[in-house]
Amino acid sequence: MFALPLSLGLALLPFASAAVHDIQVGAEGKLQFWPEAIAAQPGDQVVFHFASKNHTATQSSFADPCGHSEGGFDSGFMPVAANQTDSLPTFAFTVEDTKAVWVYCKQKVPVGHCGKGMVFSVNCPPDGDPNSFTNFKKSALAIGAAEASATPPAAPSADSGSAPAGYGGYGGGYGDSGAPAPSSSDPAPAAPASASTSALGAVHTVIVGESGSLAFNPPSIQAKPSDTVIFEFRDKNHTVTQSSFADPCTKGASGFDSGFMPVANPAGPFPTWKLTVNDTTPIWAYCRQQVPKSHCGTGMVFAINAVEDGPKNFTAFQNVAKALSGGASAGSAVSGDSNTADTNSALSIHLSPVTVTAMVSVAVALLL
Ligand SMILES: *[C@@H]1O[C@H](CO)[C@@H](O)[C@H](O)[C@H]1NC(C)=O
Ligand SMILES: *[C@@H]1O[C@H](CO)[C@@H](O)[C@H](O)[C@H]1NC(C)=O
Ligand SMILES: *[C@@H]1O[C@H](CO)[C@@H](O)[C@H](O)[C@H]1NC(C)=O
Ligand SMILES: *[C@@H]1O[C@H](CO)[C@@H](O)[C@H](O)[C@H]1NC(C)=O
Ligand SMILES: *[C@@H]1O[C@H](CO)[C@@H](O)[C@H](O)[C@H]1NC(C)=O
Repeated sequence: MFALPLSLGLALLPFASAAVHDIQVGAEGKLQFWPEAIAAQPGDQVVFHFASKNHTATQSSFADPCGHSEGGFDSGFMPVAANQTDSLPTFAFTVEDTKAVWVYCKQKVPVGHCGKGMVFSVNCPPDGDPNSFTNFKKSALAIGAAEASATPPAAPSADSGSAPAGYGGYGGGYGDSGAPAPSSSDPAPAAPASASTSALGAVHTVIVGESGSLAFNPPSIQAKPSDTVIFEFRDKNHTVTQSSFADPCTKGASGFDSGFMPVANPAGPFPTWKLTVNDTTPIWAYCRQQVPKSHCGTGMVFAINAVEDGPKNFTAFQNVAKALSGGASAGSAVSGDSNTADTNSALSIHLSPVTVTAMVSVAVALLL
């Protein structure tokens, strides 16, 4: 494999094979697919990871958001025990073409999940188009409102209170950037689906910079080879960048780097970045934002598979990072911090153009 950082690798390797899009279903107990809308190329795989409760991923149509379309796919119910954290069930389908695919959760108990807005789309037309994701979700919510007024008021249930609070401006936000929004307006393709069990492991979600904090949450996780870690950037302009235990705030020559992930809208959609865990070796990472001060120096670090009962535990790692900031004033870690230009960014990337050129030359030589 090329030892290029991921961001460069993607830019330089246009022949990357079909992508896998990981969708979380019911993460944190919410009645929600996340991301809610993605763009995908024909041949890509969409993998639903069922994280809680007892949901489905069922194909519908724009015209009937909460009805199983004839011939459309259906994962069936995927119950997850309350105490289950790994071996979560998955369901996958392959994107056949660039037509819009509409999906909902068909669980009706104790309340219709679709009517709570638990819907999802691939390749939906953008906002402004009559068949946008926003309009699709609105119709689903309208069905829920109609159901609610038709039924006698049910006792508030543990299952009902979690409709995504931030809904409003989500629109056809694509969680996966890069692919252009398709302009197809065909509402009901009923694309033939190939169901399969994903070979992927568990999905771990890490929230970055929630509510303005300079933190990864959780800051330290244990993961198995082939697990996926999805970083969801909630605020400001952070990165997740691989470093080392000995040098927590410096990018390694060959480590991964998400690049800067500025958050344009605090209500979402939020940019995400995905990392695959390949082995059980501890992985150390940090945020390399330097403006207006080093985020890493305030302790904005992250670890996978740190050995907690040894000297190289997460707290020890974080303390090394904080020590690097030269006793930075703790406390108001957040104030005024934002998306300003980074005068130091060149210093924080320890990978010179010469190195990159050399690496690319080697890569090209290997391909010839
Ligand atoms: C999942 O939901 C379906 C439909 O409500 C129900 O028939 C099934 O028993 C549920 N499974 C579990 C394990 O709760
Ligand atoms: C999960 O809960 C079930 C039922 O309460 C119990 O039988 C099982 O042992 C639990 N599993 C774990 C790993 O705690
Ligand atoms: C795992 O391997 C993939 C593919 O080579 C690479 O992109 C990714 O960065 C690796 N993960 C880690 C944590 O190094
Ligand atoms: C964590 O690492 C520090 C520094 O190496 C060490 O003093 C501490 O005992 C470690 N904690 C545990 C629980 O082993
Ligand atoms: C994000 O931060 C980087 C480094 O400080 C800076 O170069 C970039 O312009 C910022 N992006 C936005 C949109 O503010």
